Amino acid sequence: MNSIAKELLERINQEGSVNGQIIKVDRFLNHMVDPQLIDRLGAELASRFADREIDKIITAESSGIMIAQSLAGHLGVPFIYAKKKRPLTMTEFFAASSYSFTKEESTTLYVSREVIQEGERLLFADDFFAVGSTFKAIEQIIEQAGATLIGGAVIINKAERRDVEAILTLEDLTRNCGTSS
Ligand code: G4P
Repeated sequence: MNSIAKELLERINQEGSVNGQIIKVDRFLNHMVDPQLIDRLGAELASRFADREIDKIITAESSGIMIAQSLAGHLGVPFIYAKKKRPLTMTEFFAASSYSFTKEESTTLYVSREVIQEGERLLFADDFFAVGSTFKAIEQIIEQAGATLIGGAVIINKAERRDVEAILTLEDLTRNCGTSS
């Protein structure tokens, strides 16, 4: 395990928790946010995609935004966050709906046609990969745009997906964190 993965594990052990499948990180990742930690996580994920010719990072609001910004900054590319409410000014758009199993509701994600061009190569970023419903909706949006999704980069991957790059997997967490059920 590399040093940033160890640092994240330590923060989860000290300031968060692992309760079955639910990881509490809202004191440093997705409610109160430690920008230096996010910067180091983004640098690590960026290093894994440095030679992949990425044009843009794409995420969904809200908790994916911090890691998408850090990753994009380290790769020197822009990032897009899909919106959950379409502004009236967004008249030409791509849209796809995603069902959240944790929130038990469907959300439609919207991206303006102005921000993705045909043929571009996009990388999906998020804080968690849980069941992949957000990833799937973003995949549909990218397909509508005629662009290419080249993969996923997340802080914590809770699924068995090996094609999604992550700092920590659920397996790392259950093996190394004090768990309560
Ligand atoms: P998905 O992200 O793979 O599509 O799966 P799922 O629908 O289950 O995830 C729904 C939401 O719950 C996501 O946020 C995701 O970031 C969050 N989430 C999933 N697992 C955990 C977890 O273990 N701990 C915490 N703290 N959050 C988790 P969202 O609905 O997109 O909303 P937002 O919070 O980003 O605004």
